[in-house]
Amino acid sequence: MKQQEFELILKEYQTPAYVFDLDALTRRVQRISACLKKAGIDLCYAMKANPFLTGALEPLVERFEVCSPGEFRICEKEGLPMERLVISGVNKERKDISRMIEREQGRGMFTVESMQHFRLLSECARQAKVKLNLLVRITSGNQFGVDYELAKQMFRERESYPELSLQGIQYYSGTQKKKLSALEQELKMLDGFCREVQEDLGVTVSELEYGPGLFVPYFQSEPKEHLEELLEELMQMIGRMDFSGKITLEMGRFLAAECGNYLTRIVDRKENGGQIYGIVDGGIHQLNYFGQTMAMKLPFVQHISAERDAADAPADADPAQTCGYGEKEGADASNAEQECAPAKREEKWNICGSLCTTADVIVKQYPLTDAQVGDVLVFQRTGAYSVTEGISLFLSRDLPKVLFYSQKGGIRLVRDRLETDSINSAGG
Ligand SMILES: Cc1ncc(COP(=O)(O)O)c(C=O)c1O
Repeated sequence: MKQQEFELILKEYQTPAYVFDLDALTRRVQRISACLKKAGIDLCYAMKANPFLTGALEPLVERFEVCSPGEFRICEKEGLPMERLVISGVNKERKDISRMIEREQGRGMFTVESMQHFRLLSECARQAKVKLNLLVRITSGNQFGVDYELAKQMFRERESYPELSLQGIQYYSGTQKKKLSALEQELKMLDGFCREVQEDLGVTVSELEYGPGLFVPYFQSEPKEHLEELLEELMQMIGRMDFSGKITLEMGRFLAAECGNYLTRIVDRKENGGQIYGIVDGGIHQLNYFGQTMAMKLPFVQHISAERDAADAPADADPAQTCGYGEKEGADASNAEQECAPAKREEKWNICGSLCTTADVIVKQYPLTDAQVGDVLVFQRTGAYSVTEGISLFLSRDLPKVLFYSQKGGIRLVRDRLETDSINSAGG
């Protein structure tokens, strides 16, 4: 997004706020989907990455991975047909499954996370007199899915469950995977499973739903992404598999991260022990950069200066050069800004949030030029997980606004600032 767009937002809306750039989202998902299409592979959005984007992604992906009754209700509100949902995740409850099955007459796809799940799905399907499509999740060595052998057993015993149609398998082993060789190992294992089921049991596995957990560079020290090349390599790996059924790639972060901006304002500045501390009105409860360690890594941040009075200018700044909002980083500096360039004074800031904990350090030693209280920092690539995964109820701070931006639709408030004291108190 350009500087002017952030300026417009800041004129109308207070920080902290998330701004999801739907044009950026569309461009990215179209690029990804184009690579997958060449190999005949479908795309599934793991909506846990950012449920707000579910509606925007409706025309862009084939499926949605839904992991809770709440996520399901979001899909209902967005009018997504059941046929496009994969009801995934542990602890599927009888009442939720029954409701879905009865209402949707067994449409959609359900994952199996355990033997108990398998039986529950069978009972619900029998009761509703429908046939359910299932994917058996194979574990990657944690609480999710079932062991390879148990998965095989489910395929072996499938005839005892005529109300269940075992379509295939689901696999996801983790996120931010840098090494394609790790993905190749996983694909080989899954290919082997399908081959064994075919050879030993005479059953064709027709679907593979695979979450590759692709890496998104969040920090300046990380290598730049080469999206098409990366996906081309992944497609080649998939092409080397014997498996010839339908393949769907489940992705969350890789689709959603890039479109997100988290806007937070510097509300205080101090120097303690020679260190500059900038307190912002957001914090780590609303911002989540996977892999950030001790706030040492520098994320991508756009610095937007607030309107300055001459009196606010730093002592060594040229008073004639004070100006309005001005972007210091990013590629969109306008002519007007160049004419009104601020004095250059780079300092290393420790950017801390508003929580009453020493843990609330977003980034240490971030170089900012002529930064002052009132300026806004735009933390980029925050479209995945930040909006929901943070400890946002800690300290009873308000939940930030959520805004959508697109060139056609302009700026749209989709969730207003929300007070959390009623959620966090016995008074309700
Ligand atoms: C089953 C499943 N699929 C896909 C994803 C999305 O992962 P990522 O955001 O790394 O793409 C997750 C994330 O937890 C998951 O649990």
